[in-house]
Amino acid sequence: QKDVGILAIEIYFPPTCVKQEALEAHDGASKGKYTIGLGQDCMAFCSESEDVISMSLTAVSSLLEKYQIDPKQIGRLEVGSETVIDKSKSIKTFLMQIFEEQGNTDIEGVDSTNACYGGTAALFNVVNWVESNSWDGRYGLVVCTDSAVYAEGPARPTGGAAAIAMLIGPNAPIVFESKFRASHMAHAYDFYKPNLASEYPVVDGKLSQTCYLMALDSCYKRMCAKYEKLQGEPFSMSDADYFVFHSPYNKLVQKSFARLYFMDFLRNASSVDEAAKEKLAPFSSLTGDESYASRDLEKTSQQVAKPLYDAKVQPTTLIPKEVGNMYTASLYAAFVSLLYNKQSALDGKRVVMFSYGSGLTSTIFSLRLREGQGPFSLSNIVAVMDISGKLKSRHEVTPENFVETLKLMEHRYGGKDYVTSKDRSLLPAGTYYLTQVDSLYRRFYSKK
Ligand code: ACO
Repeated sequence: QKDVGILAIEIYFPPTCVKQEALEAHDGASKGKYTIGLGQDCMAFCSESEDVISMSLTAVSSLLEKYQIDPKQIGRLEVGSETVIDKSKSIKTFLMQIFEEQGNTDIEGVDSTNACYGGTAALFNVVNWVESNSWDGRYGLVVCTDSAVYAEGPARPTGGAAAIAMLIGPNAPIVFESKFRASHMAHAYDFYKPNLASEYPVVDGKLSQTCYLMALDSCYKRMCAKYEKLQGEPFSMSDADYFVFHSPYNKLVQKSFARLYFMDFLRNASSVDEAAKEKLAPFSSLTGDESYASRDLEKTSQQVAKPLYDAKVQPTTLIPKEVGNMYTASLYAAFVSLLYNKQSALDGKRVVMFSYGSGLTSTIFSLRLREGQGPFSLSNIVAVMDISGKLKSRHEVTPENFVETLKLMEHRYGGKDYVTSKDRSLLPAGTYYLTQVDSLYRRFYSKK
């Protein structure tokens, strides 16, 4: 199959959100800590009647409707998520409700889980399926869905929630350059969810940042080596038009791009100008560990990389800043932000994507964009998603209301025998919501 990739995308995030500036004041954090320190503007969260299943039902049904795809045309459906609702039954099986109704139960695939990486694992599986001998000519569908919530403390403002659905097939406007792809996988306890009675992770924030940056270095070096071997010339940041990072919070994205810039400097790549070389020279003899610990290097590299950051990364940051960390959906929400901001200028561009999931798993991979035609074109994808409409129609709640909702959800987590509030006035038409969990823990959903 030729040019296998992403044909269409739909994104859904809850209409309820809390402003980071208000949360900062509420938490007694110093002014600017969440907005400038973490680089975040706003955070979406699920009200009591939404969860990862309802959000993914919404994203999938909306994508099928808007692109007029008959559910019988889907041959594989994979879900990436780290939000555990059931230890056995996959989220994919809940989504089968949409397909069963239309007489299609012949759909391969289940869920993939490893922190924020599950969506990428699901995406690779589906792309590989379309490229393989097992492909039966139908579309593949990938869903990333997560609700990121943290216990009270410094990690809480790095939450968020969203679901993204991506339609996969040949002749796509967003094509995988599968040869330029490299992974780094290892064992680490940086962020994990060992307490099955709680939705909250155990997180070593500082360690998770370092693990993320080390994984990025490792993937980038390997991808550069593969590129050089195949293309016969070295790769530098100049060979990609945009860089999209998994985005737990924007400051880490700034640090990540600065890190790539420093890597290019160490590799003596053409992307680094003379003035920047001079400024970075004092750091060239640091060992790897020293370089992760050096605050001076962090600040200097962020400063010299700033013009390139503005051009190659800034257009990818809108939704992650407005919605927060969406775990598996975060990287793809950043990618979608790029489509939204640069739509008509993306034909022929190369986009490098970095996916990271704590624990840890990571892959860097490359996409090639072209405008495409008809419903499966970049401009139609942007029009259908209506990102500005979705952002504008959100409802800001107070930090008190946010904290109360999280308390209620703590109480309900893993529970049974409850019905959700009848007030669904904030949900847009077409949104799925949870109505009740019965005495056998069975979950029931309706569509508004
Ligand atoms: N104005 C401006 N900036 C400020 C202010 C202020 N008033 N106060 C603090 N800052 C800056 C700090 O200088 C720091 O920025 P820097 O690193 O550029 O120096 C930043 O705000 C964060 O402050 P810290 O005190 O360093 O960190 P904190 O204890 O608040 O924790 C952390 C931040 C570790 C990100 C926490 O939110 C966390 O654990 N989040 C979850 C883990 C995570 O997302 N890890 C990322 C990879 S794994 C994953 O995706 C889940």
